[in-house]
Amino acid sequence: FTAPRGENRRSWLYRIRPAAMHGRFEPFAQPRLHDRFGEAPVSPDQMRWNPLPLPQAPTDFVEGLYTVAGNGGSDAHAGVGIHLYAANTSMRGRYFYSADGEWLLVPQQGRLRIATELGVLDVEPQEIAVVPRGVRFRVELPDGPSRGYVCENFGAPLRLPGLGPIGANGLANPRDFLTPVAAYEDLEGSFELIAKFNGHLWHAPIDHSPLDVVGWHGNYAPYKYDLRRFNTIGSISFDHPDPSIFLVLSSPTDSPGVGNLDFVIFPPRILAMEDTFRPPWFHRNIASEFMGLVTGAYDAKAEGFVPGGASLHNSMTGHGPDAQTFEQASSADLSKPHVIMDTMAFMFEARQVLRPTAQALEAAHRQRDYQACWAGLQKHFKG
Ligand code: FE2
Repeated sequence: FTAPRGENRRSWLYRIRPAAMHGRFEPFAQPRLHDRFGEAPVSPDQMRWNPLPLPQAPTDFVEGLYTVAGNGGSDAHAGVGIHLYAANTSMRGRYFYSADGEWLLVPQQGRLRIATELGVLDVEPQEIAVVPRGVRFRVELPDGPSRGYVCENFGAPLRLPGLGPIGANGLANPRDFLTPVAAYEDLEGSFELIAKFNGHLWHAPIDHSPLDVVGWHGNYAPYKYDLRRFNTIGSISFDHPDPSIFLVLSSPTDSPGVGNLDFVIFPPRILAMEDTFRPPWFHRNIASEFMGLVTGAYDAKAEGFVPGGASLHNSMTGHGPDAQTFEQASSADLSKPHVIMDTMAFMFEARQVLRPTAQALEAAHRQRDYQACWAGLQKHFKG
């Protein structure tokens, strides 16, 4: 209650029935969605996956969720859960919420219509949606087979980063974040309310739609953002600024400047730096990086990292351009700008080590030969 006024988030809901009205919760079986983030020791290996296969049988959003990695948990109010979804049917007669964290949804294939208690969000690939902790919603798939990424943030709510010397404008601008107006359903029937609570799934019968909010006001609300509206900043002389210039949203911790989760994108941009190896450099860093690709190609990888795929580079694990990208960039004509148009990669960057789940480690769509992408790098040093 007593968070500083500038930090406090709350909304008043004017609804047909109170949220307390539903039957008793029982365990809900969806074994692919959980918070069991790899109990085994985490290998520092670089890891990469092909896209999660689309289902053949009818599968809705909740049934299609699949946990890849994570850390922390709802008890600690710190950490993240990283899930994928692959689904082909709309949720019918069922509603979902997570008491454990807010959900950042990144669709990669197919639009999402997210009907929430506070209104409807229509989201397409290259847009994102954020549903706050506890807000009930239903996901419809207007395009049928659909796939994407979810980051469940157990920590402080995502917010826009400070801009420092950049000044008053730039990166993601506040005016581009869209919040829905109330859109109630006055439906009665035999429905199901599914809850993710303390790392486990539960379901309860409910005889009416919980999306029955007729009006609301406040600042605890879902929102969407079009990543194509990001004002991208980069070097116009030489070298690379740190990728913090690509930060869209950040979940802060008690340590100043250290994010529990940083959501970063690599959008279309023009590389004009001179005397510079233009792709993202080889590097290691303390944070742990889960990357995905919404569309196009990522400029540090010539092949193998495809839309819908994912990579994981944990704390202090070296990574960077593959051998083919290195050779091309090393002989590039730097007198001309390199215009990268067809791309939208992103990163869920976490403070704590991202622990891959057993199902992700053992998955048939994991690329077990990922490290071979650096094997062809040649020695150029002549002593
Ligand atoms: Fe990195």
